[in-house]
Amino acid sequence: MATPVKVTVTGAAGQIGYALLFRIASGQLLGADVPVKLSLLEIPQAVKAAEGTAMELDDCAFPLLSGIEITDDPNVAFDGANVALLVGAMPRKAGMERGDLLSANGGIFKPQGQAINAHAADDIRVLVVGNPANTNALIAQQNAPDVPADRFTAMTRLDHNRALAQLAAKLQVPVTEIKNMTIWGNHSSTQYPDLFHAEVGGKIAAEQVDEAWYKETFIPTVAKRGAAIIEARGLSSAASAANAAIDHVYDWVNGTDWTSVSLPSDGSYGVAEGIISSFPCRSVGGQWEIIQGLEINEFSRQRIDASVAELTEERDAVKELGLI
Ligand code: NAD
Ligand code: LMR
Repeated sequence: MATPVKVTVTGAAGQIGYALLFRIASGQLLGADVPVKLSLLEIPQAVKAAEGTAMELDDCAFPLLSGIEITDDPNVAFDGANVALLVGAMPRKAGMERGDLLSANGGIFKPQGQAINAHAADDIRVLVVGNPANTNALIAQQNAPDVPADRFTAMTRLDHNRALAQLAAKLQVPVTEIKNMTIWGNHSSTQYPDLFHAEVGGKIAAEQVDEAWYKETFIPTVAKRGAAIIEARGLSSAASAANAAIDHVYDWVNGTDWTSVSLPSDGSYGVAEGIISSFPCRSVGGQWEIIQGLEINEFSRQRIDASVAELTEERDAVKELGLI
């Protein structure tokens, strides 16, 4: 059997962790022929719960799962890690905005970035799920100067999938009919789901829906879906978030023509260099590339700029806090 890929999951005893770990162990993260070794990072109070989840993983007798390690030490958890899913953070509660979480969660991602820098494998790929995901990813990335910046990503794939589902329902088409969907900006209520490049049945999506529906229903429904789930469930989304994390890493490793990824900006599309913002991306040879050359109209420009402005404010706030 091939050497197992070490996948580190932080917040492993949480609700996303519970929805994620079994899918990783079954081969859905990397591929049906790729053995994996799981490393579960938790805070000391939650290690026992993570041990319970590990017992259940054992009980599945997954053919691809070659071992499970459980620890409360980031230096152990990230030692030799090839893939790191940074999920552990405090979830947003009803009424909270992501800005409220910056100081609470930022402190988690600095030591984790440092541990990744010191101990991870050379091919480490990092996906940050814990909110505020984009800025948490920036904190981790800035604290890992020896790791190429483009190995740090944040998750806007859930927003992307939500946009596909909402548009498919509106146009009464299967989600597979929709191509080239893009989420720009922050994983927050300022995100911009772009229908001017999305295509349905080969035609531009924005031309197939009312402008009023696009601006007043579609965009806010997608952008505020996280809050709507919290309102309905009393808890933030978990299975759909885990599903999006699986999609993100699978496509990163195995390739895709077009999806939405938050990664360090190289200045493309006028997005401030260095901030971790969502772009239309393809994955080629195991690396994300921002899809270039799209025409950005006035409406899109304003929406992208507004979300990027929020990200630069978040960056400035964590700089003030000494986290980057
Ligand atoms: P949860 O509270 O159920 O689980 C979080 C887990 O993280 C807990 O078990 C906790 O003990 C652990 N944890 C806290 N600090 C840690 C640390 N320093 N190291 C390791 N583990 C730590 O929360 P959840 O519902 O699983 O959500 C996790 C995060 O994901 C939240 O921040 C949530 O807002 C976010 N989220 C992001 C998206 C997205 O699309 N990016 C979607 C849904 C949820
Ligand atoms: C989501 O999008 O479901 C999560 O980010 C939850 C939240 O805090 O909005």
